[in-house]
Amino acid sequence: MGKSIYILGIESSCDDTSASVILNGKVLSNVVANQEVHSKYGGVVPELASRAHQQNIVPVVQQALAQANVNKTQLSAIAFTRGPGLMGSLLVGTSFAKSLAFGLEIPLIDVNHMQAHILAHFIEDANNKQPPFPFICLTISGGHTQIVKVTDYFKMEVLGETIDDAVGEAFDKSAKILGLPYPGGPLIDKHAQLGNPKAFAFTKPKVGNLDFSFSGLKTGILYFIQKQQRINPNFIDENLNDICASIQYTIVEILMDKLKNAVKETGIKHIAIAGGVSANSSIRERLQLAEKHFGWATYIPKFEYTTDNAAMIAITGYLKYLNKTYADVSVTAKARLKVVE
Ligand code: KG4
Ligand code: ZN
Repeated sequence: MGKSIYILGIESSCDDTSASVILNGKVLSNVVANQEVHSKYGGVVPELASRAHQQNIVPVVQQALAQANVNKTQLSAIAFTRGPGLMGSLLVGTSFAKSLAFGLEIPLIDVNHMQAHILAHFIEDANNKQPPFPFICLTISGGHTQIVKVTDYFKMEVLGETIDDAVGEAFDKSAKILGLPYPGGPLIDKHAQLGNPKAFAFTKPKVGNLDFSFSGLKTGILYFIQKQQRINPNFIDENLNDICASIQYTIVEILMDKLKNAVKETGIKHIAIAGGVSANSSIRERLQLAEKHFGWATYIPKFEYTTDNAAMIAITGYLKYLNKTYADVSVTAKARLKVVE
């Protein structure tokens, strides 16, 4: 038997406060406190987010330890999200992690949130297959849309990314146009399941290579809805499911087109998805079908590891712990941290 390595992961980059304990790569607990305060504002309000993190962090960490049945003195190291994210939010997790690691006299490990979304695939779970290197990861979240070539745990190359909005923003902003609360992505998904994806056609953006663009789509949707509402003021109510299905269909088509280009360009057929939008039922289904249709091997994260969570921070921390890649006490949060720096 090897040594028991317990890692506490802490995530506070945006509007979810989360803590997780993992033992040698297996998740013992993964507590996520969602912040309800933002829904009525149509987006995350940074000041409210950092205040809610301050209120949540102690109980969330305590709950993660209790659920894992682990005492803090058993911890081997503490991993935290250094960036990217909202500065005020990141600071709460960073300073908490720092003081706890200092107090316990154990290593502190800084984690890149975007790498963590990808490395969530390496959480040890009887039901998941882990992608072999090299693989392509489509990272789709509220802040990012990237196609990343992953040659090793910490060797990544961005092959393409959005030149404007992230795909999660495309979902959330479309939802806002339809009068749905924030975050609208899951609600569009829900309504889309009852609608006809071919009911309305939206133009796909023309953007080179492996890059993405979603701001034109959002404007197209806005103009379409405004025009229809002039004819029928109840247009949204009467067609909500079809509108959502059509928006989702267009977005998923855009994502799949780019993945096909990435496979053509790299010859790599191991394809993973990661990030909050990888919770979307349609992208999950289309990716699964791609195994049959295109001969890809696809890797779809378990639902609870798609949107922001601390288990992905803890697994990344664990992989860094094995390499002894620790943070210095002088480490600071970085709002604009890139996936490769
Ligand atoms: O990764 P994440 O939790 O936070 C960021 O790092 O940004 O991603 C959040 C994004 C939001 O835009 C949310 O609307 C979207 O993921 N999302 C979804 C679904 N679940 C979450 N979008 C579409 N369909 C879903 N089922
Ligand atoms: Zn995220």
